Order: sequence, then C-alpha cells, then structure tokens
Amino acid sequence: MRHVLVLISLAVFPLAAQNGDLEKGRQLFLGMCSRCHGAEGGGGEGPNLNRPVLSRAPDDQALTAVIRDGIPDRGMPRIRRFTDTELHAMVVYVRSLSRTAGAVVAGSPEKGKAVYQRSGCSSCHIIDGEGGNLGPELSGVGAHRAADYLRQAIVEPAAALPRGVMPFPGRGLNEFLPVRVVTRGGQEVTGIRVNEDSFTIQVKDANNQLHSFRKTDLQTLEKETGKSLMPDLRTTISGTDLDDLVAYLSSLGVVK
Ligand code: HEC
Ligand code: HEC
Repeated sequence: MRHVLVLISLAVFPLAAQNGDLEKGRQLFLGMCSRCHGAEGGGGEGPNLNRPVLSRAPDDQALTAVIRDGIPDRGMPRIRRFTDTELHAMVVYVRSLSRTAGAVVAGSPEKGKAVYQRSGCSSCHIIDGEGGNLGPELSGVGAHRAADYLRQAIVEPAAALPRGVMPFPGRGLNEFLPVRVVTRGGQEVTGIRVNEDSFTIQVKDANNQLHSFRKTDLQTLEKETGKSLMPDLRTTISGTDLDDLVAYLSSLGVVK
C-alpha cells in the first residue's frame, strides 16, 4: 500500500508543481508585466510575447535574466527583487505565452507594403535603410509592437504616445517632442526637437531640415507635449488598406 502511495505522489507531484507555477506566474505577470506586454502577452508598449522565439530570451537562463534585471536602457524597468521561486514561475508562464499564437492579423503584408509606399510614410520613417528619420525607424517594429498598438499609432497617433514610460526603446521620453518656434524676425518653424541646452535649441522640420536657434532670438518656443507630428491618417487610410498596412508593419522583424 505504501509503495502505491509513493508511486502515485511521484507521478502526480511534478505536474501539480508545474500548474502551481503557471498560476503563480500568471498572477505575477498580470500584476507587473501586463501593463506593457498585454494581459495575454499580446504586446503594447512592450513587445508581443506570443512568439515562438524571443530574441532577447532564447533560453530560460536569458529569460530569467531579462525578468530579474529588466532591460532598463531599452524601456523595460527592473521591477523589483524577485525570489528564485517567483522567477521560476514567471519563466514558466512567459514560456506558455510563447506557445499561444499571436492574434491573427487580417490583411495582406504584400498589399500593405504598397499602401506604405504610396502613403508617404517613408518621408518620416526608415525601413531597411530607406526613408527619412523624423519619426522612429520601423524596420523591426513588428517584433516590438502588437497589431493593435500599430493600428492605433496610425489612426490615432497622439493616443499611442508614451503613457508614462519610454516610448521608444533606447531613447528618452521626449525623443519626438514636437515644438513650434517663432523668431523675433518672424520666421516660424514646426518640427521635432533634436537637441536643447540652456542657450540653444535644434529643431528638425518635416522636410528633414535642421534648424538651430539661439533662445534669445526667439519670440515663441512652444513644446507640444502629448502631441504627435504624425499626420492624422484616419480619413486617408481606412478599411482593408489599413488592415493591409498593419499586417505589413506587423511582419517586419518577426522571426517565423
Ligand atoms: C514599462 C514597460 C514594461 C514592463 C512593466 C515590463 N516590460 Fe518586458 N519589455 C518592455 C520593453 C520595452 C521591452 C523591449 C526591450 C527591447 O527593446 O529589447 C521588453 C522586453 C521583454 C522581454 C524580451 C522579449 C524579446 O523579444 O526578447 C521579455 C521576455 C519581457 N520583456 C518580459 C517581461 C516580464 C516577465 C515583465 C514583468 C515582470 C515585464 N517584461 C515588464 C517593457 C516592459
Ligand atoms: C510627418 C512625419 C510622419 C509621417 C508622414 C508618418 N509618420 Fe509615423 N511617426 C512620426 C513620428 C514623429 C512618430 C513618433 C511618435 C509620434 O509622434 O506619434 C511616428 C510614429 C509612428 C509609429 C509608432 C512607432 C512605435 O514604435 O511606437 C508607427 C507604427 C508609424 N508612425 C507608422 C506610420 C505610417 C504607416 C505612416 C504612413 C501611413 C506614417 N507613420 C507617416 C512621423 C510621421
């Protein structure tokens, strides 16, 4: 009888422990990670985790290090000190997310590429080395941003702006701060702040032209926090064109 009990508990215990870890990991994830990675890991400000291969966490050791230390210079904070049990539970849970297929993106990436090309996006964005750099580079954007986020960034740019965290991995919070300056001579320039110190400010306009001003020469200097220089594309791009565009961007940088 005793033998049977031992056998049963041996057989059942590993499975129970695994499920316990999964549930514990899920609770921790919901509390600390979901605001950036989405409740089901579908992504948002942080990358989509419903991918079979995570570039920064190819094995469990690397994944443990990412969760333990964060990736502070790329917009993922170190959250707090975790116990080994907690770390293990989160690794188990994040691995389970990568087995969840990401949301299916309706639309055709090929057609979306054509929409991208004819919509003037490349005047401000670089993909594979081509385009202007007023806005962020989009080459690998599909690996970092979920489809919903990308859709919102296109149709409602100001709403997709940073919500209290770094918007663009590796860059400062105000990397794409729109500014408007008017010089005492009456010259007006609207663009993105590239640099600023106590005495001068450098602004890049929509034609990618760089302007440098001495602050004493300015009549007006407005910083439009919370605004976006992205044109409002809601009316220009809609329906299947929008689906195709989102499908195209979602495919960029994704390892299948
Ligand atoms: C404030 C937002 C934020 C929070 C909170 C956050 N992350 Fe992240 N996470 C990010 C960003 C941004 C990246 C992408 C960094 C980069 O550019 O590689 C990232 C990357 C990752 C990666 C690597 C993905 C890959 O493609 O290799 C994993 C895994 C991860 N996070 C897990 C977690 C877990 C687990 C938690 C909770 C303990 C968490 N994150 C909390 C923003 C966040
Ligand atoms: C006049 C310049 C300009 C044009 C044209 C433009 N964008 Fe942008 N875009 C920006 C700027 C600046 C940002 C940075 C955040 C913000 O201000 O919204 C941005 C942000 C984005 C983001 C969010 C990236 C991220 O990682 O969060 C996406 C996606 C995007 N643009 C796609 C597009 C697409 C698709 C088009 C063409 C239909 C387009 N943009 C046209 C300037 C532009």
